[in-house]
Amino acid sequence: MRALITGAGGQIGHALVPALLHEGYEVLATDVIPLDYSTATAYLDVLDKEAVRKVLKEWRPQEVYHLAAYLSAKSEAEPEKGWTLNFTSTWQIFELCVEAKVERVFWASSIAVFGPHTPREATPQYPHMDPIGLYGIAKLAGERLAEYYYWRYGLDVRSLRFPGVVGPGHLPQGGTTDFAVHMFYAAAQQGSYTCYLLPETTLPMIYIDDAIAGIIQLMKAPREKLSVRGAYNIQGLSFSPRDLEREIQKTIPHFTCRYEPDFRQKLAESWPRSIDDRYARADWGWQPKYDLPNLAAAMWRALSIYEQS
Ligand code: SER
Repeated sequence: MRALITGAGGQIGHALVPALLHEGYEVLATDVIPLDYSTATAYLDVLDKEAVRKVLKEWRPQEVYHLAAYLSAKSEAEPEKGWTLNFTSTWQIFELCVEAKVERVFWASSIAVFGPHTPREATPQYPHMDPIGLYGIAKLAGERLAEYYYWRYGLDVRSLRFPGVVGPGHLPQGGTTDFAVHMFYAAAQQGSYTCYLLPETTLPMIYIDDAIAGIIQLMKAPREKLSVRGAYNIQGLSFSPRDLEREIQKTIPHFTCRYEPDFRQKLAESWPRSIDDRYARADWGWQPKYDLPNLAAAMWRALSIYEQS
């Protein structure tokens, strides 16, 4: 199986590339930043339609993983680029994948597709959706387009609405949920952290190993089992900055956290606190493994490995 990955230098790409190699895939990892993987890599600007067409023609992947994106905060800072990278590139990739007869496409959606009128507890798969941020608007449009390409062209597009992804080895940048990773690093390195969200802002999160397992399980699921063609809700765990502060203090008792909310608070308050993921569980067996203590233990294990190397 040959896979093409866009945005391979991002947080999900860092874990997905080795996971696909481990699964026996031949992987071409692409990005606009230099990549260091034990597989083929290439410079690829996903907004350059001809370049994407050429890569698809030459690499002939059966599967494409479109991960290139600007996260929520960065999309607010650069709205035009946020829209073109998050929506226009997705449209072009779908179009070019139909042309190149790609068998399956994965792209990442987000909990940012929800908005202030969406129920915030156990958010259902099909609630009212009124995203206030440009990132969520682009991802919601992408979801509609994914379903459209499935029904109109038979393109087998699959997607997950990622909550905040937490994992070691790569500091996410430009998102609203980044604090969940940054707090671990700041605690280990400085013993203190200044959080840009209020302490009680509970958000859905997922440990990176669960996120990667979810992508691989979804992509392996038989086509006829999938009833959601926009993007599946998935829940890992939920916690607030205060919950994380307390969890970190179990390992680093002197750790202190200050709270200085910025514009990201408004985005976070428009997103769910927890997610109802019954479609993912029923259709393809979604079952996360990490709760907060397990997630923290995994982060500490990984951080001490990185510190020693
Ligand atoms: N992690 C993303 C963000 O914070 C949400 O999907 O923008």
